[in-house]
Amino acid sequence: MKHYKIAVLEGDGIGPEIMEQALKVLKVVEARNDVEFEMIPAKFGACAYFETGKSLPPETLEICDNADTILKGTIGLGHEETLKIPEGERPERGALLPIRKRYNTYANFRPVSLPADLAHFSPLKKEVIGDGIEIMMIRELVGGLYFGDKERGTDSAGKRWVKESLSYDEEQIEKILRVGFETAMKRKKVLHNIHKSNVLLSSIVWNEILSELSPDYPEVEIKHVLVDAASTALCLNPGQFDVMVMENMFGDILSDQGGGILGSLGLMPSACIGDEKSYFEPSHGSAPDIAGQNIANPYAMVGSAAMMLDMIMGLGEESKNVWKAMQSVFAKGFTTPDLSMAAEKEKIISTDAFGDMIVEELKSNT
Ligand code: NAD
Ligand code: IPM
Ligand code: MN
Repeated sequence: MKHYKIAVLEGDGIGPEIMEQALKVLKVVEARNDVEFEMIPAKFGACAYFETGKSLPPETLEICDNADTILKGTIGLGHEETLKIPEGERPERGALLPIRKRYNTYANFRPVSLPADLAHFSPLKKEVIGDGIEIMMIRELVGGLYFGDKERGTDSAGKRWVKESLSYDEEQIEKILRVGFETAMKRKKVLHNIHKSNVLLSSIVWNEILSELSPDYPEVEIKHVLVDAASTALCLNPGQFDVMVMENMFGDILSDQGGGILGSLGLMPSACIGDEKSYFEPSHGSAPDIAGQNIANPYAMVGSAAMMLDMIMGLGEESKNVWKAMQSVFAKGFTTPDLSMAAEKEKIISTDAFGDMIVEELKSNT
């Protein structure tokens, strides 16, 4: 029996509500496989700050250090509430980025996926969706503007200035590009390289390294797309993309656009992979506008747990079963209210009910 210690960081806003659904699903998988999941809850985010004065308390860090992997909900507050927390302790800067850096989770996989029969979820026309959307966005997660030097000051005339740098070293770029190539090799052997080499020196270096690596992957066709054009192309013809690789900030923005073309951020799971430790979280935030109402879409959270089953536990078949179970709930017409434009009124269900239906579907498809 394989035993896994999983640090469970529910976080803020809708985090606890959607995490509950993921835990229900994991229980089903645990019950019918030769695995044991030891769930270790830990405080993380704004809620941890208000309770302990730290958004990433030392006890949480210790739990994460000792865990095999980490399942994370969402962190953050609305704009006004955030201002009540000192800058360094705000959950994004004080808890989330430090976790990414500590475990060097450099490869962020953000699948943007919508089968053709769920095309009605998308704001895009059916003709645009065609055979469905099946993109793997790969976002570099521990470099770039997020982690560069930051400085602010005031000039002699009393005007404020600010400087923050976008920095990468060769090793960081090589690592993420290899992830891109290798992912492309397992899929359609086409790699869309997203960059901004017409302006940014970092993109020029990125592209240089890409062409030096490409002889190692002779079967992979590279397609270069400037990031601004890529955002339009995602709306006009998403079907042209399969694997997209990009630096941190580009990936943050384009992956939320991914949620937009699917129809909801609630459809965007993610895996944050490091060489030694990885963690799993939805791509979306804590959705303060709907928190506490039992209406959030748990798909991205449950999908992140499914990615964990596959990538950490080697339970690829069970992972597929979880995806299938979620698709079956959708196929029967049920959704949470974020997709209500696409659903019949009587089939709009709560977070909890959605979680229960996933569990039922999962139990019936062994
Ligand atoms: P958000 O992703 O929380 O919400 C944007 C919109 O999408 C909202 O209308 C929200 O209701 C909706 N939405 C998001 N997830 C949903 C779900 N599962 N089901 C239904 N609707 C969903 O973005 P925001 O409002 O810009 O940010 C709120 C807070 O979240 C901020 O503090 C931000 O820093 C934080 N944040 C955290 C993470 C993370 O934990 N990894 C990611 C992004 C944003
Ligand atoms: C994400 C989020 C984070 C990011 C924030 C909360 C720091 O938006 O995971 O996409 O910008 O990376
Ligand atoms: Mn984001």
